[in-house]
Amino acid sequence: MKETVVSGIRPTGKLHLGNYFGAIASFIRMQNDYNCFFFIADIHSLTTHPVPKDLHSSVKQVLAEYIALGLDPNKCTLFVQSDVPQVTELYTYMNMNAYKGELERSVTFKEKVKSQPDNVNAGLLTYPVLMAADILIHRAQKVPVGKDQKQHLEMTRQFGNRFNRMYNVDYFPEPEAFSYNEELVKVPGLTGGGKMSKSNSEADAIFIADSQETNQKKIMRAKTDSGPIEKNQNKPQEIQNLFDLMKLVCSKKIIDQYENDYNNCEIKYGELKKALAIDMEIFLKPHREKISEILQNYKLIAEVAEIGAEKAKASANKTISEVREIIGFRKFY
Ligand code: TYM
Repeated sequence: MKETVVSGIRPTGKLHLGNYFGAIASFIRMQNDYNCFFFIADIHSLTTHPVPKDLHSSVKQVLAEYIALGLDPNKCTLFVQSDVPQVTELYTYMNMNAYKGELERSVTFKEKVKSQPDNVNAGLLTYPVLMAADILIHRAQKVPVGKDQKQHLEMTRQFGNRFNRMYNVDYFPEPEAFSYNEELVKVPGLTGGGKMSKSNSEADAIFIADSQETNQKKIMRAKTDSGPIEKNQNKPQEIQNLFDLMKLVCSKKIIDQYENDYNNCEIKYGELKKALAIDMEIFLKPHREKISEILQNYKLIAEVAEIGAEKAKASANKTISEVREIIGFRKFY
């Protein structure tokens, strides 16, 4: 029997390069070998209170991008999280055995407390529980995600194992974070910080669906320093970030050339950025064209969502009725 895979992305607008290389690149390969469920985490996105119109258009955008980037609805199940209410039922049950202390220690929660101090809602605190429910509802073994989601996967294992121990069953498998690369991926942003993220600023992220002009401008404005002063010196983070981005889309020959220039203190950052922008466009252009084509095809998007919801509900229903039985919600005979 094929192993089961689950993963999702929050709909917050257009997908960026971090989403692609951290998650979708793995989804595309995994759909051929595993029983895959890929979804749009629209319930998770409610923690930041999107207006209904924006939420709907973001969900449509991400679904169109999933299809355009190569997820094939005949090979995997593509669905919208809120179409499968069983997940919120499992979330309720799982919340009874998730403790305030461990939830407060989540790195993402701590970050959000800092970045949105006026909106520290219960959904934010229990975010890892909903994510665990997403995964456990299909009893998944593998979860393709970027490096930033590693701690959430540890928490998912903890919640699943705790359920098994509590009811003395061997029901939920231990899901592992997975990447086709040897290691989980972290794509850096353009503003000199750690990972590429839209919540840093619009300027930090390269969006797959954006025009050549927009992406080129962002790359040319990426943060750099005043250049190396000693041969073979270590690169500061913002410069390492540019080299790491090159590794995603440029040939080894070009990267080696700029490495050499850097090590000999002869680097011209403007030229490096131009080379990066050219290869980025070669990578993005076919994706961008396909995305705009799929976005016009409302019927296809609606059909994929409907079929996906039915398949995901069938799998989720099986789990939820078994979980109810284990917990002790039983029929009278
Ligand atoms: P989200 O929406 O923030 O990101 C979606 C996926 O993209 C990856 N990612 C990155 N990978 C590498 N470098 C980056 N700069 C980068 N930015 C984003 C993320 O690691 C993720 O894989 N909590 C999840 C959504 C979710 C989920 C799930 C995932 C909800 N339920 C169940 C897996 C399984 C999130 O907010 O991802």
